[in-house]
Amino acid sequence: MEDTSFAIHPGNDPENNVQGFYDIGDVLSTDISDQKLSFKCQQGYISVLFYKNDIVRIIMNPQEEPLLEESFAVDQAPENIKVHIDDSPEKVEASTDYMKLTISKHPFRVSAFDMKGNLLVSETDDGMAVGKKEGVICYKDANEEDHYFGFGEKSGFLDKRGEKLTMWNSDVYAPHNPETDPLYQSIPFFMTLRRGLASGIFFDNTYRTTFDMEVEQLGKYSFHSEGGQLDYYILAGPTPKKVVEQYTSLTGRMPLPPKWAIGYHQSRYSYESKEEVEELVRNFKEKDIPLDAVHFDIHYMEGYRVFTFDEDRFPQAKELIRSLDEQGVRVVPIVDPGVKADAQYSIYQEGVQKGLFCKYLEGNIFFGDVWPGKSAFPDFLNPEARKWWGDKHQFYTNLGIEGIWNDMNEPAVFNETKTMDTDVMHRGDKKNRLHIEVHNVYGNLMAQGTYEGLVNQLDGNRPFLLTRAGYSGIQRYAAVWTGDNRSFWEHLEMAIPMCLNLGASGVPFSGADIGGFAHDSNGELLARWTQLGVFTPYFRNHSALGFARQEPWAFGEKYEKIISKYIKLRYRWMQHMYKLFKDASETGVPVMRPMYMEYPSDQETYKLFDQFMIGESVLVAPILRPGIKDRLVYLPEGTWYDYWTDETFEGSRKHIIHAELDQLPIFIKQGAVIPELDATSSTAKPSKNLTVHVYPGQDSSSYKLYEDDGRTFEYNDGKFFECELVIRKENGKLDIQSHIIKDAFQPTWELVEFVVHSEDSDLDISFNDQAIESKLKDKVRTFGVEPSNLFNR
Ligand code: GLC
Repeated sequence: MEDTSFAIHPGNDPENNVQGFYDIGDVLSTDISDQKLSFKCQQGYISVLFYKNDIVRIIMNPQEEPLLEESFAVDQAPENIKVHIDDSPEKVEASTDYMKLTISKHPFRVSAFDMKGNLLVSETDDGMAVGKKEGVICYKDANEEDHYFGFGEKSGFLDKRGEKLTMWNSDVYAPHNPETDPLYQSIPFFMTLRRGLASGIFFDNTYRTTFDMEVEQLGKYSFHSEGGQLDYYILAGPTPKKVVEQYTSLTGRMPLPPKWAIGYHQSRYSYESKEEVEELVRNFKEKDIPLDAVHFDIHYMEGYRVFTFDEDRFPQAKELIRSLDEQGVRVVPIVDPGVKADAQYSIYQEGVQKGLFCKYLEGNIFFGDVWPGKSAFPDFLNPEARKWWGDKHQFYTNLGIEGIWNDMNEPAVFNETKTMDTDVMHRGDKKNRLHIEVHNVYGNLMAQGTYEGLVNQLDGNRPFLLTRAGYSGIQRYAAVWTGDNRSFWEHLEMAIPMCLNLGASGVPFSGADIGGFAHDSNGELLARWTQLGVFTPYFRNHSALGFARQEPWAFGEKYEKIISKYIKLRYRWMQHMYKLFKDASETGVPVMRPMYMEYPSDQETYKLFDQFMIGESVLVAPILRPGIKDRLVYLPEGTWYDYWTDETFEGSRKHIIHAELDQLPIFIKQGAVIPELDATSSTAKPSKNLTVHVYPGQDSSSYKLYEDDGRTFEYNDGKFFECELVIRKENGKLDIQSHIIKDAFQPTWELVEFVVHSEDSDLDISFNDQAIESKLKDKVRTFGVEPSNLFNR
């Protein structure tokens, strides 16, 4: 029905959706203990709990005292902090060292300020509302200058001001338009950027939720859920990076992925046999194109039964996996949650016998059709089912597999509602919950079970997990790809804001299917998309059954050459990318960043969706249209170098940049240090050469080179290498100092070369106080140093 005019039937008027709510009303009594304030109001109960100096949690429950232990996303207890509270008959003022709340009591309304008195979040007259049938809703004042970023994986542009966004994990094969909502992920979090000041709201509710950011007419926005409590956090910022740090301090951070996971991945629905896979890998080798992983889509299985290999198509899978591994190529098989209802199939038998599948209240199993036909679905809310599922992955890890691809985990079902019946009753350890409540976390719980199983089985190696569905916190277990896009230029363009918003929502490891999943790709599109892919954190080419093949060579030599050059570029940048992944695992701040994240006080950057930053000093501006060889690039303040030509550009203005098909516009900010490697055939073959590019600026700058084994968790025990390079330019002299911070791991570099990008004709260079001989050639000066300057050998 959604596809017909019925969708705009007068009875469906969205204005009616929020009717029937009533106000929380006046405060009747107040109870204060340390960092928690409790209010009994006319229409419900509210707790205000300070989590940290810069994070406060507000929970409203219409029926009873708020429940504090309900979160599926937050795995942190509140810190013990000092809160100054001033309670009077009209209002309560509560402040930490970092933020201040003013709560008026008639009726209950809350406003949050930073310590300079800047208003961060405030409530309209409509304030907090409750409603018995319709769930809960909260209205907040919108400011004319507010821009709203985050919301996880959403189609459309970057700034969601003026949009309405729904969170309900959905399998959407129909083309992803700007209005296609919801998609696979539900991350009910966003940040507001107002004149350079950032703050965040995390609405921790797993029911279907809606954010109405259509603020122009009413001057307010709202978040609404069909059920549960109104449980949200205010994150005080003040910068976009700080908000991401605050949000991920609650919901967790991405574990550092194994290096192979951030190399180039090749996928297809499906490589259907051993021979096809062998030929694929042979082609990569013969054509000298780097490759770290091949994905096995559903055809590897016996009748789509998870935890099986089709013996006819893939005889001796272990042998195949071993031989690919020897060539530096990992196998990542797809694992969907649907288990074929087949009485002769051991996984199904076990799941039924142990009672681990999702059931209705009455005890009958929920069956739905997916790839294998009639299937049952593990009840991942049940810790026993998660453990069972995780343990089953021994089937893969025994074959030498270290990466898994979770798909269809919204969960997707081939029926009218596209998912499981909402009255299925999941069995939890603490309590049972209807599917309508936990639908949005099904993917997270599957990912958790899988990730924990893999960690147990991999003998110290880091697993890689890729997922389609997720909720806040998914970053703790998996990378996210943006599902079934198409080979449209518009989808190439949209991949940027989608990944940027995911990154701003705590998920730094994301990417779109390069080349487009459905529809026929073409050489130009694949070339331009691969150029973007070099700098999206997750770098996988994937395409669907029945559409044009899109391996790097699929469209002829002209394009192959370009695509190969760019896949190699990813390997050349691996050192820098890996360091940014390490940083993201520690702070949550993403690898691929929206412009405003680096330049929050420059309002020109707020809506830029078609260019982005890699770390703090690299700007990437891909070409996003066919036949186009020029584009506008906004360079923020400072001086910028064209990565390819060393031409310099002044910032704080727009430039028209020319880029032939084999060129991706990349700009390096003056002051930057960027390490590069030689491109090898896979991350399994480490580079012997390290080249450190220095772009000296007016001020001193520094860079921390980071390296570890790229494979195990030993870096957590201090087995890594870190060396700080400090660059100073003064009175025509350039001084580079290296300070070894940690040398508990030895990098493989045998040659270390510095490239100084400076046109200064008489620049004196010294390295660790030794004068260096260097000559100016093609705008750069080059010199080698002994690796022992960086690490003890
Ligand atoms: C879904 C996935 C896609 C996969 C296909 C077959 O459409 O999103 O990536 O190739 O299923 O498994």
